[in-house]
Amino acid sequence: MSIKALKGFKDILPDEVGLWQVIERKARDIFHRYGFEEIKVPILEKTELFVRTIGESTDIVEKEMYTFEDRNGASIAMRPEGTASVIRAYIENGLYVRGSVQRLYTIGPMFRHERPQKGRLRQFHQMSVEVLGSDRAMIDTEVMAMAWQLLQEIGLEASLEINSLGCPACRPSFKETLQDFINERIDHLCEDCKRRSVTNPLRVLDCKSDNCQEQYTSAPSIIEHLCEVCSDHFNEVKGALNLLGVPYRVNPAMVRGLDYYTRTAFELITTELGAQGAIGAGGRYDGLVKQLGGPDVPGIGFALGMERLVMLLSQKDAHESQSGLDLFLVTLGEVAYEKGFHLMQMLRSLGVRVMMDHEGRSMKNQMKQANKQKPRFALILGEDELAKREVALKDMDSGEQELVELATDFENWANVIKTKIK
Ligand code: HAM
Repeated sequence: MSIKALKGFKDILPDEVGLWQVIERKARDIFHRYGFEEIKVPILEKTELFVRTIGESTDIVEKEMYTFEDRNGASIAMRPEGTASVIRAYIENGLYVRGSVQRLYTIGPMFRHERPQKGRLRQFHQMSVEVLGSDRAMIDTEVMAMAWQLLQEIGLEASLEINSLGCPACRPSFKETLQDFINERIDHLCEDCKRRSVTNPLRVLDCKSDNCQEQYTSAPSIIEHLCEVCSDHFNEVKGALNLLGVPYRVNPAMVRGLDYYTRTAFELITTELGAQGAIGAGGRYDGLVKQLGGPDVPGIGFALGMERLVMLLSQKDAHESQSGLDLFLVTLGEVAYEKGFHLMQMLRSLGVRVMMDHEGRSMKNQMKQANKQKPRFALILGEDELAKREVALKDMDSGEQELVELATDFENWANVIKTKIK
């Protein structure tokens, strides 16, 4: 029996890769416009890194991490997200000495042992963005505006939901208030919520059960329990979003699945993907760098899920071929094949995307092959054409054909063809 890929692990086939490239190219362009620099971090880290950052009582750490013991008996995890690794690298390499604010992004695969479904995989890809070194509310807004702009520029619609999760000064008292509220209804709640009411009470608000959600309609709102500093910060964030005209909705029930957040938290939601509606999410994590042994610098960031972006874009039919071939060379006979081969190499060195057939197929089959590759032009080079010293350049969209005079010098010839097709 042939070996299949693991459940929740997906091949990204050549037909789909074009869209991935469009999104990545656009994202890099926008990230660079906002002054971000790319950082590449390892896929494997010590398990402890994620336990200490994401939080012991989160779903990710409790039941979703891929962990194993290496040959020396150390516990290793395949990264379930990018933030922890970027911060580890920031501290370990002393990146803070390069300047007080660092803007970093990383793109790559993440691993979570979740139940696979549409838009939810066990290996998925994130574009993850972090700003380290500033607690200014304008940075929160700038980061959200950047995510918003990226979605707009790739032609996707989403709604931005924001919340403030408070800070160590105000969250504990809110947790107590919430815990009292939960305890009054504990018998009506699901087992998960009962457990979370002790380990991580904020997370109960995120419960997917309709029954529990009904119980939480009158739950206390964290926004009403923020300390003055957090409240001012949140107001400033909202004011700046208004100023930029970025639409948002305040959702006091939005809590994130990772424990490191403080103050601003946000999600970009779509209704077009069924249950897995979050195409991106993030927030502020002011104590995290210090907690990991680094300097006391605040941070904020977000990650976008590539698979979900690709799914949305492909639903919109915005396909783009990966190869984007400019030209397919059709040759007939040995002499034409050799000349064509030489011409093809010359065109490639001039920056033209060009392919030809090497299997000696008939002209009809070569044209069939050309149609499959979807080049913009085909150049037909047969013995007759060579004898007449002209070749036919066919526009594959309009079907129009133009005769191009053959030059003895390949460079000249390639240059003429290049100007005709560019
Ligand atoms: P997260 O909400 O866990 O945040 O993930 C961010 C995004 O990754 C989600 O909104 C979703 O689009 C995508 N995603 C997550 N899990 C899956 C999955 N199993 N399959 C497909 N896509 C998925 C974080 O990971 C934080 N590190 C974000 C962040 C950066 N916060 C601050 N900086």
